[in-house]
Amino acid sequence: MEVVVAEHAGFCFGVTKAVETVYDRIKDKDAGNIYTYGPIIHNETVVGDLEKKGVKVIESPEELKGIEKGTVVIRSHGVTRDIQKELEKTGLSIVDATCPFVKRIHKIVEEESSKGKSIIVVGSANHPEVEGIVSFASGPVYVIDGPESALKFKENKETEYTLVSQTTFNRNKFQETVEIFKNNGYNINIVNTICNATDERQSEAQEIASRADVMIVIGGTHSSNSRKLYEICSERCENTYFIQTLDDLDLELPESAVLVGITAGASTPKNIIEEVRNYVRTNF
Ligand code: F3S
Repeated sequence: MEVVVAEHAGFCFGVTKAVETVYDRIKDKDAGNIYTYGPIIHNETVVGDLEKKGVKVIESPEELKGIEKGTVVIRSHGVTRDIQKELEKTGLSIVDATCPFVKRIHKIVEEESSKGKSIIVVGSANHPEVEGIVSFASGPVYVIDGPESALKFKENKETEYTLVSQTTFNRNKFQETVEIFKNNGYNINIVNTICNATDERQSEAQEIASRADVMIVIGGTHSSNSRKLYEICSERCENTYFIQTLDDLDLELPESAVLVGITAGASTPKNIIEEVRNYVRTNF
């Protein structure tokens, strides 16, 4: 049995930076209590470890009322402009670990919107990253979650639009969505803001899944990039498993299986990937 682990599996640059930021603050004696705005990553093991070290997850700025000293870390997805302002008003130390690729989208949306363009964001409306992106528009902004919504989009064709994408969007679906806008005659400036890490991860997963007999995708159930990886892999390999940790794996290999592929979302630590790889290697 051959086991192939994707090179681009696991922590991406932005997630690594955000997690390291929190661990660095723990070592800093002047940081006071440490809070993360939302779980720093979609991984219960890492969040649990941080909790043991005293890091608290908050979900709204109100939870900080009455606290005079402490540090709040903004995770790689970023936050809305209003939340950023409210956090600054608390007087606590704010450490912004928003991924630079997300920041770049904020900047594009802010600039294009101030020039009078309407903004289209291809992504999931209720994902925190998309909520943040949307908040940087000062004029009309629409969120489109894929080709089907693009087909239903009936707005003014004279308007100039700038279209951006959630960093972790499925790149094939992004292309399909963009084609629909173009074919329907919209005057649209397309900026593909799917980040490189996502792009590489998805292309590699797609390539491995198309030749694997069994594919294992490791990632948090709340992690949008992991769910998209699962979607991509299961389209190409019917025996695709989606697990958070080795404990969830109830692997049954077809008799003819010769290749097992493994990939993982951006918030999966290396040790979990290694555990799964070793398990498959030793037991099958
Ligand atoms: Fe940043 Fe891309 Fe990771 S946007 S947080 S490098 S998935």
